[in-house]
Amino acid sequence: MEHLISGLRAAGEPTRLRLLNLLSKTELTVSDLTHILGQSQPRVSRHLKLLTEAGLVTRFREGAWVFYKLVPPARHDEVDHAGQTTPVLAPRALAWSLVQLMPQNDITVLRDLDRLEAVKQKRAATAAAYFARNAEQWGRIRSLYITEAEVESAMLDLLGSDKFGTLLDIGTGTGRVLQVMSEHFEEGVGVDLSHEMLGVARANLESAGQTNAYVRFADLYALPFENASVDLVTIHHVLHFLEEPAMALQEAARVLRPGGRIMIVDFAPHDVEFLRDEHAHRRLGFDDQEVTGWLNDCGLEVQAPRHLIPTKTTADSEQKLTVTLWLGQQKAPVQRQRSLETAS
Ligand SMILES: C[S@@+](CC[C@H](N)C(=O)[O-])C[C@H]1O[C@@H](n2cnc3c(N)ncnc32)[C@H](O)[C@@H]1O
Repeated sequence: MEHLISGLRAAGEPTRLRLLNLLSKTELTVSDLTHILGQSQPRVSRHLKLLTEAGLVTRFREGAWVFYKLVPPARHDEVDHAGQTTPVLAPRALAWSLVQLMPQNDITVLRDLDRLEAVKQKRAATAAAYFARNAEQWGRIRSLYITEAEVESAMLDLLGSDKFGTLLDIGTGTGRVLQVMSEHFEEGVGVDLSHEMLGVARANLESAGQTNAYVRFADLYALPFENASVDLVTIHHVLHFLEEPAMALQEAARVLRPGGRIMIVDFAPHDVEFLRDEHAHRRLGFDDQEVTGWLNDCGLEVQAPRHLIPTKTTADSEQKLTVTLWLGQQKAPVQRQRSLETAS
């Protein structure tokens, strides 16, 4: 009762209901919300503080910006057999129930959604401009190996029909893995240290209408997640940038639940030097023994790696790269626990 009443008190005001509705659609900063609502920044901040304190809204910092979003809905494994939520989950259930009751054809709500669309379009344009600036050099690297579609299909094939509670994509970049794997997890999060990349990933998830995944600014050497809180970790074309790949894998294994898996996708050893000189690759690929050794050191069992070998035609002037997929698994069975959002 107490949790419900304090949640209802916090939500029971027109601007705060509008905020809940907007924050159920996407993650927004105070400045976005000030623009959409047409109210002063101190006022909007005060409303957000009340909603956050009542557990209806969550906030996270990314560099100089603070983002707000609706708390995640209660997952099926967090609700007990009688369909009851615990006191901790009550605000989450309340927040989403209120949003469902919002009249989406109300004139004020419609205007909010129109302005929200404009904010999203501006974001998408910034992300697209960044992407366009880098597309050429990324395209050159991609032309060196088999198509991304073939790599992605091999990744899906390796996981089979398994479904995962939580997926963590490390060094998510444009968030592509979150999109490709979307059918395979209940909740996905991508982490990256580049604000521009995170901007592109957010815009991509938004334009795909994908609501089961989000991205966060975080260093892969110090993941902001609890031990044993993730079912599947993916590390796609990231290890070759790192000074300490083995340390990155130790950190990934730390957050893995018993029975959870780590999938690494990266190049086999090669000598395409321009990747080091012009694209900051620290390592020119990895051999199976090295990666398997690192995964074994993390306590994981490793399946036979899969090699995706490109066909080199005589017209190709550049050496082609082999992409390898490594899959490691913790020994014990998966046990579902808390969501990533509540663990962070
Ligand atoms: C080549 S991109 C790969 C992106 C994505 N995984 C994909 O394959 O499309 C490598 C990504 O790793 C990120 N990265 C590099 N070092 C990182 C670190 N220490 N913590 C988090 N992300 C990092 C970069 O910002 C970049 O977005």
